[in-house]
Amino acid sequence: MDTNIQSTLQEDRLFQPPAKFAAQARIPNREALDALREKAEQDHEGFWAEQAREELDWHTPFESVLDDSKAPRYQWFADGKINVSHNCLDRHLAQRGDKTAIVFEGEQGDTRHISYAELHRDVCRFANGLKSLGVASGDRVVIYMPMVPEAVIAMQACARIGATHSVVFGGFSAEALKDRIENAAAKVVITADGGHRGGKVVELKAAADQALSNGCDSIEKVVVLKRAGNDIGFQPGRDIWWSELMEGQAETCEPTWVGSEHPLFLLYTSGSTGKPKGIEHSSAGYLLGAITTMKWVFDINDNDVFWCTADVGWVTGHTYVAYGPLACGATMLMYEGAPTVPDAGRFWKICEDHNVSIFYTAPTAIRALMKAGDAFPQQYDLSSIRLLGTVGEPINPEAWMWYHRVIGGERCPIVDTWWQTETGAHMIAPMPGAVATKPGSCTLPLPGIAADVVDADGNSIEQPNQGGFLVIRKPWPSMVRGVWGDDQRFYDTYWKQFDTQKFYLAGDNARRDEDGYFWIMGRIDDVLNVSGHRLGTMEVESALVAHPLVAEAAVVSRPHDIKGESIFAFVVLRGERPEGGIDKSLTRELREWVGKQIGAIAKPDDMRFADNLPKTRSGKIMRRLLRTIACGEEITQDTSTLENEGIVLQLQGKA
Ligand code: WTA
Repeated sequence: MDTNIQSTLQEDRLFQPPAKFAAQARIPNREALDALREKAEQDHEGFWAEQAREELDWHTPFESVLDDSKAPRYQWFADGKINVSHNCLDRHLAQRGDKTAIVFEGEQGDTRHISYAELHRDVCRFANGLKSLGVASGDRVVIYMPMVPEAVIAMQACARIGATHSVVFGGFSAEALKDRIENAAAKVVITADGGHRGGKVVELKAAADQALSNGCDSIEKVVVLKRAGNDIGFQPGRDIWWSELMEGQAETCEPTWVGSEHPLFLLYTSGSTGKPKGIEHSSAGYLLGAITTMKWVFDINDNDVFWCTADVGWVTGHTYVAYGPLACGATMLMYEGAPTVPDAGRFWKICEDHNVSIFYTAPTAIRALMKAGDAFPQQYDLSSIRLLGTVGEPINPEAWMWYHRVIGGERCPIVDTWWQTETGAHMIAPMPGAVATKPGSCTLPLPGIAADVVDADGNSIEQPNQGGFLVIRKPWPSMVRGVWGDDQRFYDTYWKQFDTQKFYLAGDNARRDEDGYFWIMGRIDDVLNVSGHRLGTMEVESALVAHPLVAEAAVVSRPHDIKGESIFAFVVLRGERPEGGIDKSLTRELREWVGKQIGAIAKPDDMRFADNLPKTRSGKIMRRLLRTIACGEEITQDTSTLENEGIVLQLQGKA
């Protein structure tokens, strides 16, 4: 791991919170924020206990705040009882029953408005349906669906009956789905015939059938939503239509009151080694993180139309689509399809048509839409937008400025939010009425979040702009509770490095500037960040090696204009190396192969074939050298330890 990183990025622009925005904001100035932060610093547990009492509806109030007896499996509010779906739906019915909870737009232009009362009814009916299939508290349910309201209904219904959901991104392959079903030993899969994406039908049921065709023995039922109307196979006894399951179900369903620590969901995410790990989240602490950040960072209020463009298959789509906005009684928008259908103006048209006031997306989307030109956003009236947000990777200042100028009309603050699947909710982000922003910086830690930048010994790095490990010094309510079925991996990944200090290791390098602002500098491990999504190098490498023609493979990332990073694969074949190290048809075949093993986002953009991979004497692949080569940079590393230096020319594509 590399801590000795000097930052070269210099960004001096400072954008004060617009006076008009600050005047109406929940946290209207820096003093208010500092007071809140101070309170948390003085009494960390007391601060969070107060938030938990104020923001959540408890069935049984808690006495215990933080219990570290099972650390690093920290427990929050453990003796309290709660239900997440009750907190998202029931508690709004009296005041907001007729208020729109979800505005939905399909890729083909169909729209729906679902009120809180209707959403509550459908969640209850579906929850009763799940119960009728034998799903009980603690069972795992896999959700493999398009971005339609039923995905949220399914998640909320699981929460209602205490079932633990594991949403698998609809862009993942049958293979990836199968791994996740088997790891979680899920009882039921909820899917759809297909979804609309990029002008095509994504055949989800077909992929689910394939996943279930060998293995997945734990699955008893498959619930199928009719969405795209494509032909599907149907296995009587196992498969049941969503509409049939809903038929005749009661419109109320008493929530199952669970302990605060009851696992609300698993979400699989990539690490540097092995298969994706099932990140386990709690009920009460997780929801508290979702609510506090909706209020602090998005400053959500009753008149907002909130749109987070993330798919429910990612953590952003959990916290800021399925749970956070509903827990706050907000109106939120869901869009099924791609940003470029029918053209690159689609997002902006949706903002105009539905009066979106808070818009939250990833830098990769911003860069792609920026590239498409200003003419698209300029066709639409974006004056309803009052706040913009980004997540997933560092945003380059150029894209930030475009977002600010062209989408925000120089009037909207931008909240750059740093967080992770493991943190459950925003950790480092500006409160838009209180914190001046700098393009490319996620600014300051939120109250009650003890983020720090430390050296290899765990000492705080005081010197400005000196890079180090990003850690969280104290437990926080929405933190990861474990890696499903693998305590050792949980400890090794996040806690081992700073065991004596008990810091959480985020896996990112960061620096702080003179003003204490955080700047994320990239991962410390072999995790790739492609279009804001995490992929492990090992995952892609294992997929490549699983192909019968491949003997060995190493993948690295290189900077990419739109995706942030792209994947560069170096491959050693079992047979002859192709002439000049290039073979277009084999490259195509291997790309498709990786797509089938993992999903389209994992397809390598570049591929080069060599007789061998560069390795150290101890047999470790020299990734840094490969990265240099992938970037086309001059090699400054010592290559004298290589068995065959000629390999370097092959890897460079020069031999
Ligand atoms: C990166 C997504 C810079 C970071 C919510 C982190 C960011 C990983 C930002 C988590 C940001 C996320 N600025 N980098 N605002 N947000 N990252 O689990 O490397 O998909 O560790 O969660 O994305 O990705 P994940």
